[in-house]
Amino acid sequence: MALDRQQLQSIIKEFTVDAEQLREIAANFRQDLKLGLNDPKDSSLRMLRSYVGLPTGKETGEYLALDFGGTNVRVSRIKLQGAGRFEVTKKVGKPLIVPGEYDYVGVGSTSDQMFDFLAELIDEAIDKDHDTKFFLGHTFSFPSTQTDLYNAKLIIWTKEFATSGVEGEVVNDLLTEALKRRGIENIEPISVINDTVAVLLSAAYQKSDTYIGSIYATGQNNCYVESTINDPNNVGVGGMILNLESGGFMKLTPNRFDIEFDQSSEKPGEQRMEKMVSGRYMGELFGMALAELFNEEGEKYNFTSIDISSILMDDSVDGDRIAAIIKDKVNKDVDSEDAKKIKELAAAIVIRSARLVTASFVGIIWHRTGSGKINRQHIAVDGSVYEKMPLVKENINRALNELLGEEAKNIDTILDNGGSGLGAAISAAMAANHADK
Ligand code: BGC
Repeated sequence: MALDRQQLQSIIKEFTVDAEQLREIAANFRQDLKLGLNDPKDSSLRMLRSYVGLPTGKETGEYLALDFGGTNVRVSRIKLQGAGRFEVTKKVGKPLIVPGEYDYVGVGSTSDQMFDFLAELIDEAIDKDHDTKFFLGHTFSFPSTQTDLYNAKLIIWTKEFATSGVEGEVVNDLLTEALKRRGIENIEPISVINDTVAVLLSAAYQKSDTYIGSIYATGQNNCYVESTINDPNNVGVGGMILNLESGGFMKLTPNRFDIEFDQSSEKPGEQRMEKMVSGRYMGELFGMALAELFNEEGEKYNFTSIDISSILMDDSVDGDRIAAIIKDKVNKDVDSEDAKKIKELAAAIVIRSARLVTASFVGIIWHRTGSGKINRQHIAVDGSVYEKMPLVKENINRALNELLGEEAKNIDTILDNGGSGLGAAISAAMAANHADK
């Protein structure tokens, strides 16, 4: 069957953010930052305090880093050597779900099961050495309220996690108890940070002029250093990093696919921006729109953002790869013309995502800069969507140019691969140094 060109155009239009809307979103983001600094209740951004500022780059010592926040959990041993140098001396990792075997994140899973699994992985990372003392830095990539660098309570699960008994709890207490249950007394969890904060710490450890950290992966979120916050519990220099939980940003206009998807999600009404931009959700939106094009509205097509990426990577004339994916996922035969249309739909969803994320970056840059000139700076980004999804980087650059004109040349986004682990180790070093004083 041939897909209807007009219907496609009208769906693509619904996924389009034009120049004017882009500017308005960036301005609203900036406004929400300002409101949130006065009182987070007035903003759709949670603006969570991390109790950590920037590292000096001189942090040293060997630490354990637990990176927990997506479908894979990783534990590393990292030797910080100062001067921005480090060495990963051990790394282990496991998925939180193996279909048919176990699932620590779905409905029915419990906190004890999840944290016992983490403790087991930590045990593997230390080669079951229950004597040598280690401080552990924990990158926990969910919205948490903190009172200091250790004490972080999960506010609410995101990314469709549903494990019971963790919301409202101090996550490092749950971890410490699980370690004890396993007979591990020599590991002391000493810090908890969001993954955006980890990426910023990791990039800033190695490169100066970095004040914004971002994750663009299964979830999407940004943090930045707010120079005006002074707090006796804050560790580090330059101010305090705020975890914006920008996935919760609300001043956007969701289209009917966004609205319908939100209604069917694990947490309706929450994480509205994240549901429009992140890797966890782009495949779902694509599937909903495609079902409509195939006149099967409401049908649940099971696409992931990896499928979107493969579709966008098919540069062949006949669209063989696209046809194979469509056949595999929805058992339909498409010709080369249809394959082209399907690729246009995938592109529209990805381009919207990159433009919205860029608007949030620019909102932060405008907030930090005030009325002055934008200084040369890097935005540290980690995550598979940023790293691997076609069209993302070029559309970030395009949107930066649209919003900042000449000054866009002062901003570059840099990939900080592995920053979640390194950042956790740096935060542990910063917490340990602070405790020594
Ligand atoms: C979480 C954030 C996290 C982001 C990226 C979101 O779902 O709420 O805390 O930084 O995902 O992992």
